[in-house]
Amino acid sequence: MTSGRSFYITTPIYYPSDLPHIGHGYTTVAVDTLARWHRQAGDDTWMLTGTDEHGQKMLRAAAANGVTPQEWVDKLVTESWFPLLETLDVANDDFIRTTQPRHEERVQQFVQALFDRGYIYAGEYEALYCVGCEEFKPEAEIVDGTGPFEGLKVCAIHSKPLELLQEKNYFFKLSEFQDRLLELYKTEPDFVRPESARNEVVSFVRSGLKDLSISRSAFDWGITVPWDPAHVIYVWVDALLNYATAVGYGNDPEQFARRWPAFHVVGKDILRFHAVIWPAMLMAAGLDVPRGVFAHGWLLVGGEKMSKSKLTGIAPTEITDVFGSDAYRFYFLSAIAFGQDGSFSWEDLSARYQAELANGFGNLASRTVAMISKYFEGVVPAPGEYTEGDLTIQKIVADAAANADAAVERFRIDEAIAAIWTIVDALNGYITENEPWALAKDEATRERLGTVLYTAAEGLRALAVLLSPVMPASTEKLWVALGASEGLGRLHDQPLREAGAWGVLRPGATVEALTPLFPRVEQA
Ligand code: MSP
Repeated sequence: MTSGRSFYITTPIYYPSDLPHIGHGYTTVAVDTLARWHRQAGDDTWMLTGTDEHGQKMLRAAAANGVTPQEWVDKLVTESWFPLLETLDVANDDFIRTTQPRHEERVQQFVQALFDRGYIYAGEYEALYCVGCEEFKPEAEIVDGTGPFEGLKVCAIHSKPLELLQEKNYFFKLSEFQDRLLELYKTEPDFVRPESARNEVVSFVRSGLKDLSISRSAFDWGITVPWDPAHVIYVWVDALLNYATAVGYGNDPEQFARRWPAFHVVGKDILRFHAVIWPAMLMAAGLDVPRGVFAHGWLLVGGEKMSKSKLTGIAPTEITDVFGSDAYRFYFLSAIAFGQDGSFSWEDLSARYQAELANGFGNLASRTVAMISKYFEGVVPAPGEYTEGDLTIQKIVADAAANADAAVERFRIDEAIAAIWTIVDALNGYITENEPWALAKDEATRERLGTVLYTAAEGLRALAVLLSPVMPASTEKLWVALGASEGLGRLHDQPLREAGAWGVLRPGATVEALTPLFPRVEQA
């Protein structure tokens, strides 16, 4: 059921030496939700995630643990990073590891192509390097150390001392791409989103670009520079290329033509790599630039960017063990404006779980199914004549579906959920107003009772379809309980862009008992 419109979307590839925390989980579920949406809408969708396994950070972590870097990353990826995808119910199409031969060989091919095209030269380099960032730091991000680091230059992000590196390096002529990049941001205003991220990138590039050091010779945990084996390729160049190597760059032209270019979703901390360096690399190689880069904000815990090194890291399982994966997905994607920073707190999570999921959506589902069981022996009634109030619900459903799809096009998952939630709120109000329990008392209002319950059930059918990319597990339960799978097939085969049509759920279908979608939780 693909329409042919290609939609290829990626998460950043994560450093496996950090254990997965809710910040990594946030990016991953956002990308998964966008991918699920497009997939279910019939777009030719591909979702990629993976791990970034080379570089000095990884080498040192392995050494500190007394194992080889390959053993170290193998263990972490298997024990922590693959399981994260299950914990969060992620339906990725591929998982790339930068230590895989399919990646390493193509990276060498790409870098060789840049060299052959004259975009790489050798030079001497001396600069301050942050191993945490895996980056030579620009002036603006170098600050004076305090406490134990008094008298030293430290990284503004990691607050750890920088290391002075002096090496022969190969350089990529990034400076040559300033004008072409500015032209790109101008002709494609959506290339970097949101607006604040775009402005930052434009002013950064306007202030001038320096050539980029793209090789290291002081250590060897990386991909060898093909024409000079004493060097390994800079870990960020290696990492960015995953987006291309994973879809057949250099070895499967058909797959590459089908998927490329991609949309990249990244945290704002790594925006410049994606919106400046990466498109310049692609231009130099004569390839298409990405379709777009969306930078989301940081999760803040206690007002600070959450991070493991600052001991504010929270493992996703701490949340999913208590609230489930759907609640995790819903909470982060609805409570934070996508593109802005957002504060996480257990209180806020619990309150929203209770109000929006348990009392709002869950209760609507349980009572509708329960009333159909009680008043119609479990058979979805046929609607009679519709009143103004019923037609209003139908319009709300149609508008919500259209608005949600438009919001997803803008990558605003939070706005999509808000649009969909108008259905939850409207239906809860509708049931209160129409009092089906009162209609059930009088045989004369039986047809009206049928219309009201059909309206509620059909609204829930639309909700199940629209919310399935966000909450795949609970919507599946609801779908089955509504008896929808009987006549309509599987939930994830329901065409998403037609979710707002009315009259899809078939009268006569048999509902099944529904255990609470969002059970009461003991306060964490
Ligand atoms: N390996 C590089 C990325 C290479 S992409 C070609 C890297 N990895 S990372 O493990 O540090 O992950 C960075 C990403 O994790 C961020 O861009 C962001 O998507 C996510 N987050 C990490 N901490 C986060 C928060 N506190 N809040 C939100 N997202 C966070 O950088």
